Amino acid sequence: MNNANLHAANRAKNDEFYTELSEIEKELKNYSDKFKDKVVFCNCDDPFESNFVKYFLMHFNGLGLKELYATGYKISSIVNAEYQVGIENIPYSLCVTSTKEYLKGDQIDLDFNGAKELVEKEGDRIRTKLLGDEKYVAGDFRSEESIEILKKSDIIVTNPPFSLFREYIAQLMEYKKKFLIIGNKNA
Ligand SMILES: C[S@@+](CC[C@H](N)C(=O)[O-])C[C@H]1O[C@@H](n2cnc3c(N)ncnc32)[C@H](O)[C@@H]1O
Repeated sequence: MNNANLHAANRAKNDEFYTELSEIEKELKNYSDKFKDKVVFCNCDDPFESNFVKYFLMHFNGLGLKELYATGYKISSIVNAEYQVGIENIPYSLCVTSTKEYLKGDQIDLDFNGAKELVEKEGDRIRTKLLGDEKYVAGDFRSEESIEILKKSDIIVTNPPFSLFREYIAQLMEYKKKFLIIGNKNA
C-alpha cells in the first residue's frame, strides 16, 4: 500500500473510532463547573452507542445540565442487540431534559445501567428519526436538522470524524459555539 492509501486507511479508521468512557471522564472532569444550565450537543454521537451520551446522562444533575442533545450518523450496529427497543435501525436524534425519573434510592445521578435504561424506556419521548436533506444524509453534522439543534445549543462536545475536522471546526466558528472536542493530536 502506498503512503497516500495508508493515510486514507488511517483516516477512515479514525472516523469510526469510539471514545472510551474512561477517556471522556479523564478529560471532562476538568470542566465540571462549565456546564451549569447549558444545553449540550454531541453532534457525531449515536444515542445508543456514544459514551459521550452516557457520560452526560450519568452526570446530568451533578453538572447541572439544562438539556442534552445527540445525533447519530451511521446506523447503530447495536441498537437492537444491546437494547430492548425494537426500533428501526436508522440514525436518530436524542433530546433529554431530565434524568430524575430513573434515579434509584439516594442516587444523585444515573449509573451506567440507569443511563441505558433511560434511553431504552423513554423511547419516542426523547428520540426522533433523522431524515437528512437534499445535500446531506441523515445525521450529518452539516445537515439542516443538525444545524437547527446546533443553533440552540451552548456547548458542543464530541470526538468528530477526523477526515472532516477542518469543516467541523469551521462550522463551530461560523456559529460561534463553545466546544470541547477530543481528537487526534495532529488535528
Ligand atoms: C471518531 S468517531 C467518534 C464517535 C463518537 N463521537 C465517539 O467519540 O465515540 C466519529 C463519528 O462521526 C461519525 N461521522 C462521520 N461523518 C460524519 C458526518 N458527516 N456527520 C456526523 N457524524 C459523522 C462517524 O460515523 C463516527 O461515529
